[in-house]
Amino acid sequence: MEKAQSSGFTLWDTAVVYGMGRSETVLAQALKGYARNEYQLSTKFTPQVAGGGDDPVADMLEQSLDRLGTDYVDLYWIHNPADVARWTPRLIPLLRSGKVKHVGVSNHNMDEIALADRILGEAGFRVEAVQNHYSLLYRSSERAGILDYCREHDVRFFSYMVLEQGALTGRYNPAHPLPEGSSRADVYNAILPRLQKLTDRLAAIGQDRGTSAANVATAWAIAKGTTPIIGVTKADYIDGLVRARDVELADEEIAELEALADATGVDTRGSWEHDM
Ligand SMILES: NC(=O)c1ccc[n+]([C@@H]2O[C@H](COP(=O)([O-])OP(=O)(O)OC[C@H]3O[C@@H](n4cnc5c(N)ncnc54)[C@H](OP(=O)(O)O)[C@@H]3O)[C@@H](O)[C@H]2O)c1
Repeated sequence: MEKAQSSGFTLWDTAVVYGMGRSETVLAQALKGYARNEYQLSTKFTPQVAGGGDDPVADMLEQSLDRLGTDYVDLYWIHNPADVARWTPRLIPLLRSGKVKHVGVSNHNMDEIALADRILGEAGFRVEAVQNHYSLLYRSSERAGILDYCREHDVRFFSYMVLEQGALTGRYNPAHPLPEGSSRADVYNAILPRLQKLTDRLAAIGQDRGTSAANVATAWAIAKGTTPIIGVTKADYIDGLVRARDVELADEEIAELEALADATGVDTRGSWEHDM
């Protein structure tokens, strides 16, 4: 955290359902030494775990604020589109009260984003950010026109799982798979052989630029106009992230990487995601 903060990575993305509150609690502990204006908090309302009260969105936000030790969040998300017409209007009073500074929608398709934006628009607000799975291996938001929509409407697109939970970093391969017993091993170990050509090319481009395969995959997501949310697990990874901002990929390299990704034929859609 210290290294990220001092390198300018000050937006922390979490959710109630990440450890059922534990992630928010730990995040608050780690941020204790910083003034509130030195970092930004991004957390989520998850409809699947909504309570039974009159206003489950306000209730869930209050619990998050309590765990995060703050009186506002910088960015509040509807985590997934369980019922857009039901949940989106609940954000309006939270924006008016100042407990939520900005709102975004996650895992929403184009129609759902447009509906959420219309509902907020009637109250003078808007969908300011989108957070979807977007990686070389999973470009459904691009194919569905969501990236274009975001560019045209000045909406920030936050890409998550850019590294496919480690499978695109080049650190893992059939001889050195993801840690047995982890959920990511269950998802990715069987497809690692099909990713080899892609990760080899990422590594080769990285070698040419003095960086790693992981940072080339991140630079690709930046080149596509998105803001990656990276699951950083080691302080050393921060150095590479700083450099990834400056790795320029030629159009031909981007096209080649995307062709190699398409040729893998894998589908890494998460169980929580629906069609874009
Ligand atoms: N809105 C949603 O529904 C949703 C869903 C999923 C994720 N997210 C957000 O996206 C964030 C990231 O997702 P994620 O962690 O699952 O996937 P990710 O960012 O694709 O992958 C993270 C993994 O990549 C490896 N890694 C990270 N930086 C690296 C580097 N520079 N070099 C080499 N390896 C590196 C680490 O593996 P090792 O530790 O093995 O090295 C880490 O566990 C989440 O924390 C969350 O905030 C949102």
